[in-house]
Amino acid sequence: SRTVAVAKTAGFCFGVERAVDRVYEQIRAVKEGAAKGPIYTYGPIIHNEQVVSDLEKKGVRVIDTEEDLKRLPKGQGTVIIRSHGVSRHIYEILKERGVAVADATCPFVKKIHRIVDEHAAAGEAVVIIGSPAHPEVEGIRGWGNEYTTVIENEAEAEKYEVAEGKKLCVVSQTTFNYNKFQDLVEKILKKGYDSSVLNTICNATQERQVEAAKIASEVDAMIVIGGRHSSNTQKLYEICLKECKNTFYIQTLGDLDPDSVSSVRNVGITAGASTPKKIIEEVHTRMAEQSFAELLKEEEESTKPI
Ligand code: F3S
Repeated sequence: SRTVAVAKTAGFCFGVERAVDRVYEQIRAVKEGAAKGPIYTYGPIIHNEQVVSDLEKKGVRVIDTEEDLKRLPKGQGTVIIRSHGVSRHIYEILKERGVAVADATCPFVKKIHRIVDEHAAAGEAVVIIGSPAHPEVEGIRGWGNEYTTVIENEAEAEKYEVAEGKKLCVVSQTTFNYNKFQDLVEKILKKGYDSSVLNTICNATQERQVEAAKIASEVDAMIVIGGRHSSNTQKLYEICLKECKNTFYIQTLGDLDPDSVSSVRNVGITAGASTPKKIIEEVHTRMAEQSFAELLKEEEESTKPI
């Protein structure tokens, strides 16, 4: 019969799961009169259209810009801060609007905010290794001072200079590639600054990739679930394809051609960071059912009168 292996690290990381749970908790709390509606999230809670539209149906509204935050009716509703976190400035706006805040900033990101806040307050220069346009990085930057800079590539690292007499603190965006981080840090430190480097990369992404590769190397077919535009899912797909030629990239169960895996013995399943558990479970169940159906068929055939 068939075995189906689902990666333990498939789907949401700890921080995203916590943030999504927080939204559903708030929905319940508002219903029970324990929290103030309407509920808003500052930015979509995750990059998954189905989840965001499901939440919308339950009355959760997405606020996309700082300007819209500033226009919130005073003293009404609850704003949920997603796992990416936000700058100090955003907390100030929320306070000024008098809205309730449900802070779902991932604790690993919160830790970076604290580091940047402390070092900046001590008058040090801070370098954040990451993509400046990423909301997490924008948030982190917003805990720094005028000597806080984001560095994304080698050219920027080469060019970077710390202001005279300043100490330097280096941190990283949580999802930055470790090797690239090391490279950039090396380039910056070549100039001999008095510095402290804090590797604040989160292992969730790497652990998901390592586990996916291991499972893919042991199965006959591998299924990778995630949004078509999700870069971490694309990466997972490439990693799995290297280990298993029979790798399928699907968004939901509906994309899976049942015939493509019907005769496969061992199936592996993993999923990108924004894939809800429900979708993973649906695929898992179908794969297990399919094997059950095969089993019945085999049974029937073996008991057929000759
Ligand atoms: Fe996720 Fe938090 Fe790491 S949001 S990727 S567990 S930093």
